[in-house]
Amino acid sequence: MTEIISLDTPSLLLDYHKLLSNLNEMTSFAKEQGISYRPHIKTHKSIKIAQLQLQAGAVGITTAKISEAEVMAAGGIKDILIAYPISSPDKIKRLVKLLELGIQLKVSVDNTESLSFLQKELEHTPFILEVWIKVNSGLNRCGVDPGKEAVILAKAVMTHSRLKLGGIFTHAGHSYAAKTKEEIETIGLHEGHAVVESAIECEKEGISIPVRSVGSTPTYKTAGRINGVTEIRPGNAVFFDAIQAGLGVTSIDRCALSLLASVVGVYKDRVIFDSGSKSLCLDKGAHGNQTVTGFGQVIGHPEIVIERLSEEHGVGVLLEATTLKLNDKVQIIPNHACTVVNQFEEYVVHDNGRVMDVWKVDARGMVT
Ligand SMILES: Cc1ncc(COP(=O)(O)O)c(C=O)c1O
Repeated sequence: MTEIISLDTPSLLLDYHKLLSNLNEMTSFAKEQGISYRPHIKTHKSIKIAQLQLQAGAVGITTAKISEAEVMAAGGIKDILIAYPISSPDKIKRLVKLLELGIQLKVSVDNTESLSFLQKELEHTPFILEVWIKVNSGLNRCGVDPGKEAVILAKAVMTHSRLKLGGIFTHAGHSYAAKTKEEIETIGLHEGHAVVESAIECEKEGISIPVRSVGSTPTYKTAGRINGVTEIRPGNAVFFDAIQAGLGVTSIDRCALSLLASVVGVYKDRVIFDSGSKSLCLDKGAHGNQTVTGFGQVIGHPEIVIERLSEEHGVGVLLEATTLKLNDKVQIIPNHACTVVNQFEEYVVHDNGRVMDVWKVDARGMVT
């Protein structure tokens, strides 16, 4: 049986049991709360892992890009939320193709102009598209204000014969800038209330909102407890990473994803790994919130801080003497799992260091 230590480097490693345990944590939470689980697949980009999530009870998946949805649909996944604003006629034609395949599609909306674009393209088809209103719960990216603005948009959706309103959702991505666990909790509470209060306001006006969906890895357990929330959409929690550990959301030993790297240089004050920005990526978390040290954590080597990356080199500065020597291999927990996965063709899936399987990163590079 192949051991991971004999693999070429850099390789993307996935610890099977940690993956299952992380997956179980999300599904158990959803079951306990009596709500649905619709994981964001931007983290793993893998049909195989999406299918494991569905087998564990997920009602469907979330994607950011249409191309990700297309890959997942080709992999047999039927229920997909594209949590991204779509107005361009060319892109809407691609939504229609997904509807033709029988996909139960839902698309984010947050303005009346895009409703008109969607309606116009759909009029040439037999389909009615389900849309979910995105509310801004503090990330200040996309989304209408919760409450009255959501009601105005909900009423506008009702005037479009080719659109049907299926839900209201939000994503508290600003939780990544939180400095304390208490701050994360406050953001999570606000996230849940923003969605539920918007739904209640709509229902007062006679507009039914069946789905009230929240989710980010730091906040889903707080937002998902709010009465009236019906769905969570965590993505990163399937793997976790050094940023999540730095935020206090998890611990490093629960991170399922790591990079196998080799030592290609040893100097008196530093070692060089064969993993630079092409594999470890340059993320250090939310702007202004440095909860991580360096560009990834070298397992079992606290004496090393990966202080600098160039494309193919990771410069590990020595805080103390190291036992590492040329050609030694190490596992590095990346800062941000989602971006690192996008750099690789495949996962080497292992059980305690023994290679079990190789899984494709199917939706790698899907940017459109
Ligand atoms: C709309 C939406 N939902 C859910 C998520 C998942 O967030 P996380 O990876 O923090 O769990 C994201 C992440 O960007 C998102 O944009």
